[in-house]
Amino acid sequence: MKNIITKDYQEMSQLTARIIADEIKKKPNMAFAIPTGGTPIGTLQELVNIYNKEKLDFSKLKCFNIDEYVSLEKEHEQSYYYFLNHYLYQKTNISPSNTYVPNVFNDLEKECHDYEKIIQEHGNFDFILLGIGEDGHIGFNEPQALHQAYCHVQKLDQSTIEANSRFFEKKEEVPKHAITLGMATILKSKKIVLIANGKKKANVIKKLLSTQEINPLFPASFLLLHNDVTIICDQDAING
Ligand code: GLP
Repeated sequence: MKNIITKDYQEMSQLTARIIADEIKKKPNMAFAIPTGGTPIGTLQELVNIYNKEKLDFSKLKCFNIDEYVSLEKEHEQSYYYFLNHYLYQKTNISPSNTYVPNVFNDLEKECHDYEKIIQEHGNFDFILLGIGEDGHIGFNEPQALHQAYCHVQKLDQSTIEANSRFFEKKEEVPKHAITLGMATILKSKKIVLIANGKKKANVIKKLLSTQEINPLFPASFLLLHNDVTIICDQDAING
């Protein structure tokens, strides 16, 4: 795993956006899987800046949500579709027909199966950007003994619900389940970039950079199985 340390959040975001833009230049129709949360906001903003300044064409880009909360409408401000639409899709010429997110109001099992099929039909992801939970979760693949390899419904851990409650008015509003890509599909991406910033991520980043074991109770450790992973983090996420 390659590790790049930036001086701060802004530099992390700029560098990551530049890497993504370069990939889009190389392959304008790449299949791109995108995370949500606080960490990627700066990267998406920088990507929109590059789009505007450099007249980069996103019209062929295929964008996939890594996960989505069960029971939140697309229009709900905390839905992950809303997030990507707000920070990226509506600010660029990404075509709505090139954006993919599981429909959490369908039969969930069928939806997971269909989402996985669409990804496979695109030849799996060319590029996946990841965040990381403080407990090492990736997407919504929580620490657990048994992992569903492919797209599935995940019951969220209390710690994840608490961490994500900062985005909701009340903790009770945080959904208890989500649909997430499984680790097998994440690992099929040609390139993986994981971003992390801030002191709160220092423990998990230290653990990720030092581990040599694949441990399902530490889902980020599955990334050791991939040969093109870059971890970009700021000084705080390294030094605490
Ligand atoms: C959520 C998302 C993850 C994200 C993680 C970290 O649980 N499902 O995809 O990586 O939170 O979020 P943040 O960037 O806000 O720390």
